[in-house]
Amino acid sequence: MNIIALSGSLRKGSFNTRLAHAIATRAPQDVTVEIATCHGIPLYDGDLEEAEGVPSAVTDLRERIRAAAGLILITPEYNAGMPGVLKNALDWLSRPPKEMHPTFRDKPTGLAGATPGGLGTTLAQSGSLVVLRQFKVRLFPDHLRVSRAHESLSEDGSVTDGTIETLDTWLGDFVSFVRGG
Ligand code: FNR
Repeated sequence: MNIIALSGSLRKGSFNTRLAHAIATRAPQDVTVEIATCHGIPLYDGDLEEAEGVPSAVTDLRERIRAAAGLILITPEYNAGMPGVLKNALDWLSRPPKEMHPTFRDKPTGLAGATPGGLGTTLAQSGSLVVLRQFKVRLFPDHLRVSRAHESLSEDGSVTDGTIETLDTWLGDFVSFVRGG
């Protein structure tokens, strides 16, 4: 089974992309977690869309999401919300409107996020529910939140014990959810 994990950070040292890698590393043997980012996606501009259509960075990502059995959105938290980079990517992915539901409708989707702060991107995750409701995804109700990410997610890919346990439990339950259990 293939799951795609989309990190909403462009930063090389991103904690959220580190979390995506940790999820990929900890996935059960029969599950492949493909990591995606929002690199290469321009700012949404209706004139650009009209003149040139949807950019290939978006159509490529869309194909990857469609091919995956499940989607994990890994959102940083900026000013209590989802970063513009991720919202912009989701906006493009919903264009043109006829593409939105074949991409997202009923897609088993989990929310994850990492922050150096203490509240594990709770507010960004809550805010993103509005978009996910619009997309009509099949949302996994339990969200993965990593606080103090600078302590728990290292540059070399190692993850502290408590975070590994939380991640493994969440991931196991999410994989069952994707499988329909
Ligand atoms: C932040 N950060 C932040 N963290 C948080 O927990 N709640 C918040 O509201 C905010 N707000 C915020 C605004 C802006 C503009 C920036 C740049 C940062 C800190 C943020 O969690 C931190 O920079 C993370 O490292 C960003 O995620 P990546 O890039 O490490 O994945």
